Amino acid sequence: MSAWTAAQLPDLSGKTVLVTGANSGIGFETARMIAANGATTLLACRDPERAAAAESRILAAHPDATVEVLLVDLADLSSVRRAAAAFATRRDRLDVLINNAGVMLQTRSETADGFEASFGTNHLGHFALTGLLLGALAKAPGARIVTVSSTGHRFGPIAFDDLQLENGYTMLRAYGQSKLANLLFSYELQRRIERTGWSMSAIACHPGGANTNLVFVEPTDARASWQDRVARRMTFLAQSARMGALPSLYAGFSPDAVGGAYYGPRGLFGWRGYPKRVGSSRRSHDESLAATLWDVSEALTRVVYDFPAASMREPLRRTETGTGRRTH
Ligand SMILES: NC(=O)c1ccc[n+]([C@@H]2O[C@H](COP(=O)([O-])OP(=O)(O)OC[C@H]3O[C@@H](n4cnc5c(N)ncnc54)[C@H](OP(=O)(O)O)[C@@H]3O)[C@@H](O)[C@H]2O)c1
Repeated sequence: MSAWTAAQLPDLSGKTVLVTGANSGIGFETARMIAANGATTLLACRDPERAAAAESRILAAHPDATVEVLLVDLADLSSVRRAAAAFATRRDRLDVLINNAGVMLQTRSETADGFEASFGTNHLGHFALTGLLLGALAKAPGARIVTVSSTGHRFGPIAFDDLQLENGYTMLRAYGQSKLANLLFSYELQRRIERTGWSMSAIACHPGGANTNLVFVEPTDARASWQDRVARRMTFLAQSARMGALPSLYAGFSPDAVGGAYYGPRGLFGWRGYPKRVGSSRRSHDESLAATLWDVSEALTRVVYDFPAASMREPLRRTETGTGRRTH
């Protein structure tokens, strides 16, 4: 199988793409390559200075690129609502949303709304943002919603009896729950999209192990578990953030990427290499679990997905979940 590289990205002129967590690591590289290929690229970031620095770096490398900052703190639902409203004042439609931002936290903390911070940021923040941008996505034929998960989703489950992990918090437990939630969300979103007949697709991906701010910081807290410490020291397996961005780019723009699928590196343990379609845990495909998580997420965020009548029906084609369509 030949390697899919960023050189295979199509011309993205005329497209609008929003990348969360675009100021560092995988999100920065994803946004940079999207902007380099002509899309209007919105850097959705929480810190104005870090966002402006990322914008400057992209423009320095690609002076003709169209890049804008959209401030959003995914750990604060009022900020997510403001960001979605700000987006609506600037753009009518959104072609690709890349739910990339993420945290992995060695000690428990809470979002502005009182949710455990990994679950609140990685899952609930993106759940709310996607729901609020659904109308703009519906206006773009063949829109895609890419959600970045992790091999760490296997550290799930979703602890519905202690969703905010008030008991027995560990970094991997919290991160695993949030990344399993990312996958359950993406698969369930695809199923719901298919029922509407929209031409939109929800596609999941993971970057493998990438050398970014997320993972490769020494644990400083005595409360970090041994598993947390081991996870932090896996640097020897890591690839560059640029390579880690390829699954997101493939999911967002390859004509071969399909709704309901999951893409990640093809190398050893899925940690390194060029993107290919990959499998995920049995739990991530549990439709009843996904439906429960959806209901809980709507209740917690108070963002209820509005799937209006289909306006862009296309003939259905085969997808991962059986009845959907191939994306273009
Ligand atoms: N690196 C890996 O090996 C690896 C493996 C599997 C999955 N992933 C996933 O890849 C994605 C990108 O992570 P990365 O490795 O590139 O890490 P990173 O360099 O730490 O980037 C994370 C990005 O998310 C942003 N972010 C964090 N909290 C936010 C919030 N409340 N609101 C808005 N933005 C927020 C960060 O902004 P600040 O700079 O302001 O903090 C940063 O831009 C994450 O979803 C992560 O789970 C990474």
